[in-house]
Amino acid sequence: MVDIAENGRTWLLSGPASSYALHLTEADELLHLHWGPRIALADAEALALSPLPAYWPFESPLDGREEYPVEGGPRFVRPALSVRTEERRGTEWRFVSHQSEGDELRLTFDDDGLAVTLHYRMRGDVLERWVTVANGGHARVELLRADAATWTLPDREGWRLSQLHGRWAAESLLATAPLTYGEKIIGSRRGHTGHQHLPWVALDTDATEERGEVYGCALGWSGSWRIAVAQLPDARVQITGGAGYDDSGLLLLQPGESYTTPVFAGLWSDGGFGGASRTWHAYQRAYVIPDADRDRPVLFNSWEATNFDISEEQQAALARRAADIGVELFVVDDGWFGARTSDRAGLGDWTPNPDRFPHGLKPLADQVHGLGMQFGIWVEPEMVNPDSDLYRAHPDWVQYQPGRKRTELRNQLVLNLAREDVQEYLWEQLDTLLSSAPIDYVKWDFNRCFTDAGWPGEPYPQRLWVDHVRALYALLDRLRAAHPSVAFESCSGGGGRIDLGVMSRTDQVWTSDNTDPLDRLAIQHGFSQIHPARVMAAWVTDSPNTQLNGRESSLRFRFVSSMAGVLGVGGDLTEWTGEELAEAHRWVELYKEIRPVVQRGDQYRLRPPAGGLSAVQYVLGDETVVLACLQAQHYGEPVPALRLRGLDPTASYECRETGEVHRGAVLLHHGLRTGLKGDLDATVLRLCRI
Ligand code: GLA
Repeated sequence: MVDIAENGRTWLLSGPASSYALHLTEADELLHLHWGPRIALADAEALALSPLPAYWPFESPLDGREEYPVEGGPRFVRPALSVRTEERRGTEWRFVSHQSEGDELRLTFDDDGLAVTLHYRMRGDVLERWVTVANGGHARVELLRADAATWTLPDREGWRLSQLHGRWAAESLLATAPLTYGEKIIGSRRGHTGHQHLPWVALDTDATEERGEVYGCALGWSGSWRIAVAQLPDARVQITGGAGYDDSGLLLLQPGESYTTPVFAGLWSDGGFGGASRTWHAYQRAYVIPDADRDRPVLFNSWEATNFDISEEQQAALARRAADIGVELFVVDDGWFGARTSDRAGLGDWTPNPDRFPHGLKPLADQVHGLGMQFGIWVEPEMVNPDSDLYRAHPDWVQYQPGRKRTELRNQLVLNLAREDVQEYLWEQLDTLLSSAPIDYVKWDFNRCFTDAGWPGEPYPQRLWVDHVRALYALLDRLRAAHPSVAFESCSGGGGRIDLGVMSRTDQVWTSDNTDPLDRLAIQHGFSQIHPARVMAAWVTDSPNTQLNGRESSLRFRFVSSMAGVLGVGGDLTEWTGEELAEAHRWVELYKEIRPVVQRGDQYRLRPPAGGLSAVQYVLGDETVVLACLQAQHYGEPVPALRLRGLDPTASYECRETGEVHRGAVLLHHGLRTGLKGDLDATVLRLCRI
């Protein structure tokens, strides 16, 4: 809902629990008024009467108070918008008009033919913001920087910043630290979202998991990006973010051209970090993730089982075992195409390897379907190995700088997706592939960062950074439209491309190449700060863990850890004993029972993974599921009871595992005993309201 003051200069956007207000002064300065609990228009109007502080000449009263600080004039903060025309640099705008429609508000400004439109859209209690810059009259406009939004926090003391940092095999680890004066910058200059930071921040002063105010911001962009959190000299805090890492040139706008930033979404919650996460999850399920009300199937993925050494018969044998344990989707990972017998060759040639699949993929896909499962494959379309037919035919289709070395990472180069001929080639290859066999699922990988992002012959090669992502999005959109029954997974060496942008075009994401069930608890804990279980793929693999650390763990522990997301199996099933397969089957069937609650329910993080007992709980209607993991028990001390959340204190709940009936009030205030003991123990507890 958008409320507008009579004078047309104060605006209030409200969701069920929160409001956001802004005000335009007589001098056309656009000031931030409020972001927090729901208020009335009269409250916003009262706030609009407060004068700006008298701060001259070494500080600017505008700093820390503007909705979208442009470059130029009395401002010393990092500009959200930095523009260069033939005549000058910077922006001096005049308000043109406001438009509102439903939950959307648009404010348009003009600077001598350059139109800047700020967009606001309330989605539940998440506010989406983005900006359009249009060149209406200049011979050329160079957009050096155009952030999607600047967020302003209220005056408080002692802000803390939470972020999700990491690296390959250690993504989305939560870190919280006090904010101090100056700027904290996170982002990616790698061309993709990156393993190093999820494009998310949360700010609070004294929140706990279930109580207190939390502000969160998340960017929907799958290329390089930057979020800067600044504590200004008067202690005010602003967060500005958008596409691109540095300010050396986002795009060139010819007359008539425009640029629309990605969405930078924000929320306020007074339900602590848990409340903020549940609002993010509900928002993504309602507005971002395609078909979120359709539960994701249990998949098998061949990567850890067979690596590059694959054949039709061997995959069929795995598929039979997978079907036996209840798997619903069988995915052949890397190695099925071109000359791809190792990571040295084949990327770019998206036709089945004739030695391995002499009659194409269809015979295997048919067998998999015959076993009652869906069939999926792995691709990495944005890449090419120099040892490939594609590269031999088109060595100029990659990103490169003339006269410089082409940096190979994992023996591969990045295709220049900004080129139309490359876009068309990929479309034809993938469309043909998806038409050649009954393929239901595509795991779309991206296994190296940009290093030599050049485009010889292009007058403004900088556009490659943005246009690569746009081309990726367009290709995914086109493939989804042409093959509506195919689901897509976003992968980038594990969790290197997880953000709201890619999530609006894919059905789930590969969380991490780290499939160790203990490490995963921390990765999943971080991931859940922003994204729901419905998209978080998690596989049960072999023990000892083959990829990373050789840790041994029981099937029970591996399954319970992986059941917190979209369950998958990735071990070498041909090596599993009959007993292990039978046990796996029981876990898969149990997962199918709890799946609606896990994938669609409200999630409560009962205890973080901090060495002892950790647990997550999901609530959907009358059903509750608790997944509890004990890393290590010490000194024979009793394992604490789990205080549940989200239940009706006046109701009773029956535990399906024990048959015991518990009072809601007791579960909420005293807790539930898990029966866990020793090291790496785990359990699933289902409770139903009676
Ligand atoms: C990446 C993915 C893995 C696997 C390999 C295949 O590392 O994250 O799951 O698909 O590529 O090469």
